[in-house]
Formats: sequence, structure tokens, C-alpha cells
Amino acid sequence: MKVAVLGGTGAFGSALARRLVDAGLDVTIGSRDPGRAAATAAEVGARGLVNADAVAGVDLVVLSVEAAAAPSTAAQLADAIGETPVLSVASELRFEQRSALPAGDPLSLAERTQQVLRGPVLAGLHSLAASTLAGGKAEGDALVCGDDETAKAAALELAATLVTGRALDAGSLASARALEGMTAVIVNLNRRYRGRAGLQIVGL
Ligand SMILES: NC(=O)c1ccc[n+]([C@@H]2O[C@H](COP(=O)([O-])OP(=O)(O)OC[C@H]3O[C@@H](n4cnc5c(N)ncnc54)[C@H](OP(=O)(O)O)[C@@H]3O)[C@@H](O)[C@H]2O)c1
Repeated sequence: MKVAVLGGTGAFGSALARRLVDAGLDVTIGSRDPGRAAATAAEVGARGLVNADAVAGVDLVVLSVEAAAAPSTAAQLADAIGETPVLSVASELRFEQRSALPAGDPLSLAERTQQVLRGPVLAGLHSLAASTLAGGKAEGDALVCGDDETAKAAALELAATLVTGRALDAGSLASARALEGMTAVIVNLNRRYRGRAGLQIVGL
């Protein structure tokens, strides 16, 4: 599978790219800056290009830019992305004194990203921390949601390379509202118990 990781210079995108390269996928790091793309690509063993070039000819685009910039970045790249499926990993958090809170918008970032793209948008990987992925596969399961079954199968195949557990189909793209909100829960668990929380779904 050919994958472009936009924002692949960040903590999450670069850790993700490392794991995908390990799993034998053909990975291109995307960045707004060609120098940053090339530097990260050299570190993780991938190719590095500016975002608009990175998406050319790939099977799946992972949108791993800074969360609040995800829908606007997708809008800027809509013509270059065309019909290619996009996996949104973004979770927008706000912080109060003692707690991380989900962002207030009733629509998820992934649904807002879908509004500006022609191809299908998936959402997932929200429970996997960059720091964990940087060291190897994440313990537990990975959840992916989306409305297009073919695109979701590709995203689940990618997700399965990242975790010790299963890649699970969490339903339609509207489930991204819950998955994005779950990041705040995981941040709070990590703070409270000083751990690296992941998700493991039981009963399936
Ligand atoms: N960190 C985690 O543990 C974690 C876990 C699960 C999901 N996520 C999600 O993964 C995504 C990336 O997380 P991160 O921690 O790696 O984020 P980050 O370091 O804040 O940003 C990632 C990359 O986004 C690009 N970027 C920054 N501002 C931008 C803007 N205004 N417009 C376009 N691109 C911009 C930058 O790349 P260039 O400057 O090279 O273009 C940056 O390296 C986020 O959506 C986050 O919610 C993170």
C-alpha cells in the first residue's frame, strides 16, 4: 500500500511513518516545507515531499497535521487529493486547570474534513500516542470509522500494522465524534495514573 502522511514531520506523523515503513508500506512524508519533509523522511526511511506532491499516486492519505489545521489543510489540498481516501487522526483538545476536554464543536474534525473533500474520509488511531508508537507497536486495539467500506478496509489494514491487538471497524464517520473525544479521556488517564493508556475492546 502507498501512503502519504501529511504533517509527517510532527511527533505523531513521524512515529506513525516509522511503524508503516517497518511493516513494509511505501511511505511518503508530507510537509509544508520541502526541507523538513526531506529531513524527517531520511530519519524514518521514507520519501519526503511537500504536501501537495506527497498525495500524488498514493492509495491512502493520512491527515496528521496539527489538529485545528486539519480541515483547512484538506481544503487547500482538495484538488491534489482528488478521490483518494483520507484517514483523519486529528483530535482537538482544550485544557482546563485539571483536565483535558473534548473540543466544543458538535461536528467532528473528520466530518468537517469530509465536507471539503470529494473522496471518502475515515477517522481513527485516536487512542495511539505518538510516544508509544515511536518505540514500536502500541498495545491494544485501534478503532477506525467511516462511511465508505472499501476505503475503511484500507484504513483498517494500515491500522492493523500499528497495534498488538486488532484493528476494529467502529461504524460510520459520525463515530468520529466519540473517537476524537476519547483522546481527552486517554490524556486524563495518563495524567492521573502516569501511564500510557490504550484501548482494548472486550466481548467481540
Ligand atoms: N501526539 C499524539 O500522541 C497524537 C495521538 C493521536 C492523534 N494525534 C493527532 O495527530 C495529529 C498530529 O499530531 P502531532 O502531535 O504530531 O501534531 P503537531 O506536531 O502539532 O503537528 C504535526 C505537523 O502539522 C504541521 N502543521 C502545523 N501547523 C500547521 C498548519 N497551521 N497548517 C498545516 N500544517 C500544520 C507541521 O508540519 P510542517 O510544519 O512540516 O508542515 C507539524 O509538524 C493531530 O491531528 C493530533 O490530534 C496525535
